Amino acid sequence: MEIRPVLDEEHTELADITVAAYLGLGHVDDEYEPELRDVAGRVAGAHVMVAVDDGGRILGGVTYVPDRASPYAEFDAEHAAGIRMLAVRPDAQGRGVGEALTAECLDRARSEGRRELILHSGTTMTAAHRMYEKLGFERDPNLDWWPTPGIELLGYRMHLEPGQAE
Ligand SMILES: CC(C)(COP(=O)(O)OP(=O)(O)OC[C@H]1O[C@@H](n2cnc3c(N)ncnc32)[C@H](O)[C@@H]1OP(=O)(O)O)[C@@H](O)C(=O)NCCC(=O)NCCS
Repeated sequence: MEIRPVLDEEHTELADITVAAYLGLGHVDDEYEPELRDVAGRVAGAHVMVAVDDGGRILGGVTYVPDRASPYAEFDAEHAAGIRMLAVRPDAQGRGVGEALTAECLDRARSEGRRELILHSGTTMTAAHRMYEKLGFERDPNLDWWPTPGIELLGYRMHLEPGQAE
């Protein structure tokens, strides 16, 4: 498996994967689906990476938010980076892809001197919560927020030691 920036011709496939991954968790509605599908917007305002298998098939993707100046930042901290829209295609889940994409974001944040990595996750995303906690993220209720009534996002953060990319 290779992790690399998404190519222009892969935007639609990654959009489909992202919607498919979020669909079963009650996180896709008419308002949110266009946002999930907007890979081009995320490429313009952050960094989008994909995991690709030996045959060139996209297995999943993630948006790395380099700092609070990005339109995709959901944090104010000056020295933080973020993770958004992590998604693994349903038939490739449970094989280490999500962990590899998250580890890539952690490596990148450390190598860029970020002091913490912040993300938010829906209350139904229990596999993701387990993965983040396994990787060393901590729940921080101070980061929780409600983008729309009835949707609660749970905050997680990991403090980083700069220059310790694995
Ligand atoms: C969450 C998600 C990205 C994980 O990716 P993945 O490739 O399936 O996960 P991995 O195989 O890398 O597993 C890493 C860890 O996640 C946890 N995990 C993965 N699938 C799980 C499941 N079905 N139930 C419980 N925990 C699970 C485990 O802790 C696992 O570690 P382990 O195998 O040592 O137990 C993927 O399931 C997904 O796309 N989910 C829907 C979208 C989503 O919730 N995105 C997160 C947004 S914040």
